[in-house]
Amino acid sequence: MNDSRASAAANFGYTVHENASLLDRTTFRVPARAATLIDVHEFDAVPRLLEQAGAQNREVLVLGGGSNVLFTRDWPGIVLALRTRGLDIVEQHVPGAPGDAAIVRAAAGETWDDFVHWTLAHGLRGLENLALIPGSVGAAPIQNIGAYGVEVGEFVHAVQAFDRTTNSIVRLDRAACAFAYRDSLFKREAGRYLIAAVDFLLPRERALRLDYDGVREELAAMGATDPDARAVAHAISRVRTRKLPDPVTTGNAGSFFKNPIVAAGVADALRHENAKMPVWPVNDGHAKLSAAWLIEACGLKGFRDGNAGVSSQHALVLINHGNASGAQIWALARHVMDAVQARFGVRLEAEPLIV
Ligand code: EPU
Repeated sequence: MNDSRASAAANFGYTVHENASLLDRTTFRVPARAATLIDVHEFDAVPRLLEQAGAQNREVLVLGGGSNVLFTRDWPGIVLALRTRGLDIVEQHVPGAPGDAAIVRAAAGETWDDFVHWTLAHGLRGLENLALIPGSVGAAPIQNIGAYGVEVGEFVHAVQAFDRTTNSIVRLDRAACAFAYRDSLFKREAGRYLIAAVDFLLPRERALRLDYDGVREELAAMGATDPDARAVAHAISRVRTRKLPDPVTTGNAGSFFKNPIVAAGVADALRHENAKMPVWPVNDGHAKLSAAWLIEACGLKGFRDGNAGVSSQHALVLINHGNASGAQIWALARHVMDAVQARFGVRLEAEPLIV
C-alpha cells in the first residue's frame, strides 16, 4: 500500500491505512479507495473500533476475502478487513452426533479453500465439494456458499459474531442462522453482525456426494476408481478451474447472479416455449431456473462492453478484462438483467454486495 500512510497499531490487534486503495482487496480488482482501511488481526479489537467509528459518525463496511463485493464508488467511511487467523478442533468426538464427528473452529479471516484442505487432512469430511471457492471462512455463512450439490449451512454448527445492535458477542446456532439458497440471517440483516469465527460439525465417515453433473466423469478421468473425500476435492477443483475464470488472473466474483426461483407455473410456461431450458424443482410450488442458461439464450455469453464483460467460459460470471471500473461492471450487470427480463420476464438478482 505505497500510497497510504499505514500507522501500526499492531500491538492493539489492527493496522490503519488512510486513503487506501481497495484495488487488491477485492477479486474484481476494480479501482476504489477507502477513507480509512483497518486490517484487523485480533477480533478483540473490533468492539472498540466500532465504538470509535460510531463516536465519529463514520460508516463501517466489513470486508473478508473480497470475493463477493463490487465497489462502484469510493468508501467515505471505514473499511474493516478481517484478517484473523486460527484453526482448532474444539471437540474431537461429539456425543449425540450421527456417527463419529468433530467440531472445528475457524477464525473469520482464514482462507476458505485452505480451511477445506485442512479439514480433509485431519480426516474430516463434508466440505470436499466446496473446494476452491474463493473468499474467507467468515464470508462463507453470509451467502451460504454452495457448489456441486452441497451448501455450507449443512455443516455450520454455530457462528460467533459481534452483534452491533446489542454491542455484544453472540453465538448463533445453525437454526438461528436461517440458511437458505445463497441466503442467511447475516445477509437479511446486513451490517448487523460481524462474524468472528465459525464452528463446523464435521463427520469422519460420510457418503460422498457425487451426483452433480460432471463430478463422476472428472473422477473417472483422474483414474480414481475408489475415491475418498480428498480425491473429490481434487476433482471439483479441476472442474472449477476449467469452467470458471480464475480470479487471480481475471477479476471476477464467481457467479454474479443467483439462479432465480420462480413459481412452478412460471417455470412450466417457460419450459413449454424453451424445451432445453434447465429447471430444478425446489418444492411443490417453486422451481429454480439456470441464470447462466437464460443469459446465454439472450446471446450475451462472452459479450463485452469496454473492459466489462460476460465470461465466455461461464455466462453467470461477469469479468473485468482490464481496467473496468465497478460502475462499468454494474452497468453491464443491469444490461444483462434487463435483457433477461425482456426476453423471459424473469428478474435476475445480483449475488455480490454492490457498494
Ligand atoms: N449453463 C449455460 N451456460 C453457461 C453455463 C451453464 O447454459 O455458460 C447451464 C447449463 O445447462 C448447465 C447449468 O447451466 O448445466 C448449470 O451450470 P453449472 O453447473 O455451472 O451451475 P450454475 O447453476 O450455473 C451454480 C453456482 C456456482 C457453482 C455451480 C456448481 C449459483 C448462483 N451458482 O452455478 O457457484 O459453482 O452451481 O455447483 O448458484 C458462485 O456462487 O460463485 C459459483 C460459482
